[in-house]
Amino acid sequence: MHSKTDNPKIFKNMKQDMIVILDLGSHENTVLARAIRALGVYSEIYPHDITADELKALPNVKGVIINGGPNNVIDGVAIDVNHEIYDAGYPIMSAGHDKALCDNKIEQIGNDVDAVKEAVKPFVFDTCKAEPNWNMTNFVNDQVELIRRQVGDKKVLLALSGGVDSSVVAALLLKAIGDNLVCVHVNHGLMRKGESEAVIDVFSKQLCANLVYVDATDRFLDKLAGVADPEEKRKIIGGEFIRVFEEEARKLDGIDFLGQGTIYPDIVESGTKTAKMVKSHHNVGGLPEDLRFELVEPIRQLFKDEVRACGLELGLPYDMVYRQPFPGPGLGVRCLGAITRDRLEALRESDAILREEFKNAGLDRTVWQYFTIVPDFKSVGVRNNARSYDWPVIIRAVNTVDAMTATIEQIEWPILLKITDRILAEVPNINRVCYDMSPKPSATIEWE
Ligand code: XMP
Repeated sequence: MHSKTDNPKIFKNMKQDMIVILDLGSHENTVLARAIRALGVYSEIYPHDITADELKALPNVKGVIINGGPNNVIDGVAIDVNHEIYDAGYPIMSAGHDKALCDNKIEQIGNDVDAVKEAVKPFVFDTCKAEPNWNMTNFVNDQVELIRRQVGDKKVLLALSGGVDSSVVAALLLKAIGDNLVCVHVNHGLMRKGESEAVIDVFSKQLCANLVYVDATDRFLDKLAGVADPEEKRKIIGGEFIRVFEEEARKLDGIDFLGQGTIYPDIVESGTKTAKMVKSHHNVGGLPEDLRFELVEPIRQLFKDEVRACGLELGLPYDMVYRQPFPGPGLGVRCLGAITRDRLEALRESDAILREEFKNAGLDRTVWQYFTIVPDFKSVGVRNNARSYDWPVIIRAVNTVDAMTATIEQIEWPILLKITDRILAEVPNINRVCYDMSPKPSATIEWE
């Protein structure tokens, strides 16, 4: 959630009407904010003990919703809102708080955004008279202006991984400051097939962005050689990534700002239920002291679905905007144990086949995450009438809401058989294909 000292530059320039949600320890804060935004009205979540003055300092507040009961206890103390906010002149509604001193009350809200939308609609439009002026066109226009004000004619550096968030940040910054944006794409050699090429194609060739492409494949794979422990692998990949990025940053002159793809759930999650514990989400990913830049975080107000809508508004390709989640360490945690180049290649090729066939079957639009894994053991098979001794490929396809639990996708046999046939025919050094049937728990989504 927002700390009360949050970036004032953002607040001063918001043109949209806003409904403020005060967090009294409800788990459904984000559902409420998303439901109000889905009605076309902007909404943000603030700590429960915001003062009337702090509330008044926020722009275009049309109403306040107190969310959660009065009996929430934090560190042994029951929490409630500051009673002065009842006299601050805003329409106030409570959700699941019987003792709130306001006329508008609704029951505890659930998790269903559509149901919550209906429940809050009369308050938002009839009582608060909020204008439904929250949309991506307005958002993009506002952000372009805000970025220009923050950055002026200085330069912004951005680590462009090709993921949804960094791609949308790149597109926004590009629209706002053009050549003063310097994107650095580090290929750690653990990208999926065609991914770095797509980043270069979209940003360098189509959008004419200032893009530094660093092929650090050998560097990463050399460092990872012989390392089998998953956490050690993650540490090496993460650490090396920062070092490569840092080296590139040092080569560039006159950079004052660092673009970052922080999104709204990061901000909400970095706050806790008490205001005193709200901490800034700002961090610059482990860069050294002398490379600390001021941050530019133009999508910090957006939920993930809004980030995607923003990407489409900015003209990014559908596949980039709807890309499935991909872990930072990339294929590194799917090429099990100590990574070798032949297994990594088999992994990359089998993953590309899986993705292609999922797309042909329309599954790319419905399945949350799908990928292949290549373990570090071999099994016996036959090929061309001779005994083979090769690696297996494991297919994993899962659905989840929040990645905390997951169920497997029940892929139809003909699709699975086709993928299997193609992997066995097209990928060298593979003689078996298996389908991972395990939900989370007991398994995790990734194998390492
Ligand atoms: P698990 O395997 O923990 O994965 O069930 C849950 C989600 O997190 C992703 N994941 C990672 N993402 N760095 C990341 O950026 C990582 O080290 C990492 N490990 C897992 C995983 O792909 C899934 O979406």
